[in-house]
Amino acid sequence: MIKISNVNKTYRSKKGNVEALRNVSIDIDKGEIFGVVGLSGAGKSTLIRTLNRLEDIDSGEIVISGENICNFTPEELRKFRKNTGMIFQNFNLLNSKSVRDNIAFSLEISKIPKKEIDDRVDELIKLVELDGKKNMYPSQLSGGQKQRVAIARALANNPDVLLCDEATSALDPKTTKSILELIKGLRDKLNLTIVLITHQMEVIRDVCDRVAIMEDGQVIELGPVAKVFSNPQTETAKDFISHIRLNDEDEIIPLLDSKGKIVHLGFEGDKAKEPVVSRMIRETGVDVNILSGNINRLITTNVGNLVVEILGSEHEIELALNYLKNNEVLVEEI
Ligand SMILES: Nc1ncnc2c1ncn2[C@@H]1O[C@H](COP(=O)(O)OP(=O)(O)OP(=O)(O)O)[C@@H](O)[C@H]1O
Ligand SMILES: [Mg+2]
Repeated sequence: MIKISNVNKTYRSKKGNVEALRNVSIDIDKGEIFGVVGLSGAGKSTLIRTLNRLEDIDSGEIVISGENICNFTPEELRKFRKNTGMIFQNFNLLNSKSVRDNIAFSLEISKIPKKEIDDRVDELIKLVELDGKKNMYPSQLSGGQKQRVAIARALANNPDVLLCDEATSALDPKTTKSILELIKGLRDKLNLTIVLITHQMEVIRDVCDRVAIMEDGQVIELGPVAKVFSNPQTETAKDFISHIRLNDEDEIIPLLDSKGKIVHLGFEGDKAKEPVVSRMIRETGVDVNILSGNINRLITTNVGNLVVEILGSEHEIELALNYLKNNEVLVEEI
């Protein structure tokens, strides 16, 4: 659906050049919610802005629904942009216009008959659950409600693709959850393909199918959320994930005067529900001291994380670690 191949983009200025995208390649499937996460300055916004040609790339190729968007004529570009909705952290609503007029804005530019616009606005207001707010102004709405207006506006032209740049960053956790639920529901209802940029791993966990982690303009990890969460390869990915799992690991470990071996165990899918650890204890004779643990429920699967101290003879500990590895548990010695 969206095929990004070897894309490079450098911002040039008198103060110097910034390589914002370096050889980025990502394939996004139709109907997928694809997350992009990374620290500030990693290139996330630049990447998402290339997908609707708000930014042009220096080299590489971006193909959406079979068309190379980099070669569009101005007319083709106008048409294409209608097919791509975008929402932002700060909502970008027109404060002097009502909810109705904000949503209708792009339809009015397209010179669609008023009756048709009114029907479409009513439909969109229902879709984003803003019933009764049609004649209010942005200043009278909460952050979550403003983002709902922005989503309705982005969907006005029935796009195939929705781009979300930090769409929940300005919202409190509860409102974030409700907006994410809405976005997920819209994907299911409208078969939208959604690219979602965030620096919050919780957002990735709660709605995304796959995730790319960016650093210094490059994609450093890419895969299904469960895979990246249970087996992060890079320090950056581990760092991001550690904020939502094992956040007390660093505090616990140095305090321990351990006589055994301390390991971090990662479980994915059904393994997160199986009593693998108690079976290991029975089979190998070791003792286990649980130091910290949690299970993160992702949309498609569960990911469990445990930090344990394994006590026993060297041989028993080796047997125990092998037992875990043979049972598809990710074992990382700390
Ligand atoms: N218009 C511009 N001119 C020059 N440099 C830019 C421009 N836009 C972005 N950059 C630079 O490109 C790099 C990537 O910026 P980008 O906005 O894509 O990062 P980001 O990952 O979205 O960060 P944040 O999480 O802070 O939004 C940064 O170093 C930034 O300073
Ligand atoms: Mg950004």
